[in-house]
Amino acid sequence: MEKGAVTVSAPGKVILAGEHAVVYGYPAIAAAIDRRLIIAVRQGKKSKRYTGLVEFALSQILKPGEVVDLKIKSKLPIGSGLGSSAALATALVWALKPSLSVQAKNRLVKIIEDYQHGQSSGVDQVIVRQGGMLKFQRGKFKPVKLKVKQAILIDSGRPKETTGEMVKNVAEKKPVTILKKIGQIADNWSPGLIKENEWLLEQLGVVGQKAQKIIRQIEVIGGMAKVCGAGGIKAGSGMLLAHHQDQGKLLKLIKQKHWRYLKVSLGEPGVRYEKN
Ligand code: MEV
Repeated sequence: MEKGAVTVSAPGKVILAGEHAVVYGYPAIAAAIDRRLIIAVRQGKKSKRYTGLVEFALSQILKPGEVVDLKIKSKLPIGSGLGSSAALATALVWALKPSLSVQAKNRLVKIIEDYQHGQSSGVDQVIVRQGGMLKFQRGKFKPVKLKVKQAILIDSGRPKETTGEMVKNVAEKKPVTILKKIGQIADNWSPGLIKENEWLLEQLGVVGQKAQKIIRQIEVIGGMAKVCGAGGIKAGSGMLLAHHQDQGKLLKLIKQKHWRYLKVSLGEPGVRYEKN
């Protein structure tokens, strides 16, 4: 991206199954997508003033008085369940602290993720780092081979709530039976289980009216869709993972309704240093 700079890119992610339940130790299936965030860093060059997550991340990563110049480009919509904060935290740590061990980098990313998300399961930071397609449970993960190589993501609008707030909402109810059933879906995942997974997420109270309306219309034409991050109830619920055996039918509906959507490929590489 820039000569003389350390450049790092990190992918976004989708959760195919297991969001929220994964916070309670149930498994989740996550995949890295082909939309990346890129950061180019020049050490010793005066930074402009950063705010929000970048400001917090720099306060954790840099020594007092240390200055850097950052250029950040992202193809990931912010706050839509596609792991933009995990990609940002990971790329920043990798770019600013290349000589740290992977464990030390992970610890820093976790601090930044927890600042953004409250109590996080760690699935986002693991998939963004490792890439591919993984089954994640209680901090441990293993690659999974699924036949699904592409996904259609429909934008139901940006949630008003943060991931941390949505996780807290669920924690207040802690509906064990629903969480357990979501975990079982992640254990036996196939696209056909998206509908049941969505139904359970609705019972969990993480899917807003706007997203439910889109999902019902997809179901009418024989398809299915689910939220693929923390969701949201007051406004949008982020990106919806949509599936139909006849993808043409789904795309026709999306175009008719003028919904915004992305076609992404799954199983993409994790964080990496880019050549300038
Ligand atoms: C967010 O992408 C997924 C959640 O399960 C939170 C987490 O796992 O930390 C909602």
